[in-house]
Amino acid sequence: AGVFTYDPGFTSTAACDSAITYIDGGEGVLLHRGYAIGELAEKSHYLEVCYLLLNGELPTAAEMEKFESLVTNHTMVHEQMHKFFSGFRRDAHPMAIMVGVVGAMSAFYHDSTDISDPHQREVATIRLIAKMPTIAAMAFKYTTGQPFVYPRNDLDYAANFLRMCFAVPAEEYEVNPILARAMDRIFTLHADHEQNASTSTVRLASSSGANPFACIAAGIACLWGPSHGGANQACLEMLQEIGTVDRIPEYIARAKDKNDPFRLMGFGHRVYKNFDPRATVMKQSADEVLDLLGVEDKPILQVAKELEKAALADPYFAEKKLFPNVDFYSGIILEAMGFPTSMFTPIFALSRTVGWISQWKEMIEDPAMKIGRPRQLYTGATQRDYTNVEDRD
Ligand code: CMC
Repeated sequence: AGVFTYDPGFTSTAACDSAITYIDGGEGVLLHRGYAIGELAEKSHYLEVCYLLLNGELPTAAEMEKFESLVTNHTMVHEQMHKFFSGFRRDAHPMAIMVGVVGAMSAFYHDSTDISDPHQREVATIRLIAKMPTIAAMAFKYTTGQPFVYPRNDLDYAANFLRMCFAVPAEEYEVNPILARAMDRIFTLHADHEQNASTSTVRLASSSGANPFACIAAGIACLWGPSHGGANQACLEMLQEIGTVDRIPEYIARAKDKNDPFRLMGFGHRVYKNFDPRATVMKQSADEVLDLLGVEDKPILQVAKELEKAALADPYFAEKKLFPNVDFYSGIILEAMGFPTSMFTPIFALSRTVGWISQWKEMIEDPAMKIGRPRQLYTGATQRDYTNVEDRD
């Protein structure tokens, strides 16, 4: 037996070195390749951030045009995959469909699963970034019983996604540019977040040499949990359960009660202990969208606003440094746009795909890469003799 450092939840152990994303949780700083998230959300757009995360530098105009055209030319999914979708129950959670469909991409696109070939790695990267919105929108359409809407390559990434989700065949659908911009911001603000649980899952899965589609499916599975990507759905469901502003104190009291497992969803973060810089931008975006859609008087959004105020004014949350996180506001925007709560985490998954794949690329290209193999502190029985079933009490 060896002597190992025990660090449950990896609160103080670095599992890799990485040049992609920097976070200073105390100061509320988040940088991608050195650029502040606030500046990227304001001045850049999702596909440019994808290029930056993948390649380390902002693209020139020509590089951006090439990257954008590559992504746009891969948005369609294999026609055979439509049959694969129809094998699921209509009432399946879209995340369950996404785990299955993205994992199955290795069956449909096996010509880009050889990770020793740099060209295949690049093709897999483009395929994943290009097809995730199509797959997420198809999962949505499938679970609502509507026909699939094919991607339109004259639209930008976010507008195309909104159209695939909300257009109905044979009916005109104009994407509102303010909503497309808000959607693009949601994608941008979720693009990467260094070694969070799903990214670490992708790294661990990839460390065995598994193909990128299988590894991203593992990331999607991990993201689904309510402590991670599932928090945006859980947060909106909590707001629905609270229902009216007068019930907020009851829920605040429950969140503070140590004998009650209830937590305020959308509050707190493992790394950010003062504020979440993504939440600052997302809050602005939420205000813009709510202004546009004129839904200020929707009860659930009132509950959100009042809950935020009440929690921020409460010493319990201040002492424990619990602030609204990015998912508190993204859920509100998505609700206002008309997405059902079950689509919130799939949208997080499609946004985070570039982060997962950038971290995968960094790891695969590192000559010092080793298979991930955590150790343990064994706490079970010492060796003992087997007893036959008839001799057991
Ligand atoms: N409501 C009430 N109390 C809380 C909350 C909350 N949302 N979050 C943490 N606490 C308390 C917790 O009970 C503990 O109290 P004590 O020290 O008395 O035992 C203390 O604060 C520290 O909590 P922790 O669980 O040790 O902190 P953590 O860093 O392990 O957890 C977290 C971080 C995000 C899992 C947690 O804050 C949480 O469960 N939040 C709600 C779920 C959520 O919104 N998750 C989304 C995270 S952001 C998106 C993403 O990255 O996926």
